[in-house]
Amino acid sequence: MIRAAELIQRKRDGEALAADELRDLVLAYARGEVPDYQMAAFCMAVYFRGLSPEETFALTEAMIASGETIDLHGAIGRPVVDKHSTGGVGDKTSLAVGPIVAACGVPFGKMSGRGLGHTGGTLDKLESIPGFRIELSAEEFIAQVREVGLAIIGQTGDLVPADKLLYALRDVTATVDNVSLIASSIMSKKIAAGADAIVLDVKVGDGAFMKTLDDARSLADAMLELGRRAERRVVCVLTDMDQPLGHAVGNALEIRETLATLRGEGPDDFSELVLAAAAHLLTLSDLGIDEQEARERASSAVHDGSALETYERWITAQGGDPAEEALPTAAVVREVPAPHDGYVQALGAVAIGVAALHLGAGRSTKEDVIDYAVGIRCLKKRGDRVSAGETLAEVHARDDAGVAQAANAVVSAYTFDASPPEARPIVLETIG
Ligand code: URA
Repeated sequence: MIRAAELIQRKRDGEALAADELRDLVLAYARGEVPDYQMAAFCMAVYFRGLSPEETFALTEAMIASGETIDLHGAIGRPVVDKHSTGGVGDKTSLAVGPIVAACGVPFGKMSGRGLGHTGGTLDKLESIPGFRIELSAEEFIAQVREVGLAIIGQTGDLVPADKLLYALRDVTATVDNVSLIASSIMSKKIAAGADAIVLDVKVGDGAFMKTLDDARSLADAMLELGRRAERRVVCVLTDMDQPLGHAVGNALEIRETLATLRGEGPDDFSELVLAAAAHLLTLSDLGIDEQEARERASSAVHDGSALETYERWITAQGGDPAEEALPTAAVVREVPAPHDGYVQALGAVAIGVAALHLGAGRSTKEDVIDYAVGIRCLKKRGDRVSAGETLAEVHARDDAGVAQAANAVVSAYTFDASPPEARPIVLETIG
């Protein structure tokens, strides 16, 4: 019998727990033998006392052991790569990185999640494509990575069930934002899904979990350490989420922006992040090339059309229609003019994410139904000079009432000044 109360008490008092104690606790919780109230108390003890690197790894291994794992390397016969973002506004990076990497001959297999609060989810974006299937079995997932070189699907039910339970519990007990708990939650899913090499995009700023570079570095270090112990090759990029990524926020709008980027016509910040992430994955893979060569190959895949062709094959393989014209469009599209002259000093990521959520692009409760067509295109970003009346953004809405509400929110999300702000690159730091 697991003595959960004793483990909670020892963690509360700052003691380190042994790997087998953490394993017993997590597995008993996943089997329903430890109730939510005890696991919630344990998470709160961890929140205040923290976990050592050894404990964090033991927790991660225990979560992995709670379900099935996929041996992608064994099934494909060579290294498979994956990418993960800690979540942001307008973050469609995987949708462009996957086809570029696969077009360069490196298999890409990813399990994604849905939107949470003001942040969008890759699965919701993919489901704006008519016919696209996110629910593939593990066998179908492996077969598609082998045949098409690329698959992005929802997490299969048997993978890391302990994290599913624990995440839902943390979400309602104020214990999400602890570095060890976030790192083990993310890395348990990445390791169980089987990729050999992983690029982790740790978002920093207003729209991110991690508000400061220091916090983002701590999370990156914890995830790198877990990757090292699990013998996976991991690189972390710390990237700016003080403003939305690219222009588009909203599901079908973000697929359109992905397509533009794969044609070499994407927004600068988004295109730069896509190239940087793709180049890291190619460098970590078995191609035996350095960063510069990897960047050149990624860039060529965009310019010679092979990345776009790979996107089309991938979407078709998962039952979707890859044509841009097949994507839903909103009933009403309205431009939002700048209230006065000046330089954009800031564009609040959360404010834009929440405005898109209210338009229907996200969910406030798990049961909400998403409107895939709606969203916001932020055409002016930090550092851009604008004249009064010039278009700042476009609102894509169901009706005039939605347009009016979102337009006000968009104007409030911008701040202006007479001089330009200090330039801030999209990739703030690379670790690993
Ligand atoms: N994303 C996850 O998958 N887990 C966390 O704990 C936080 C973000």
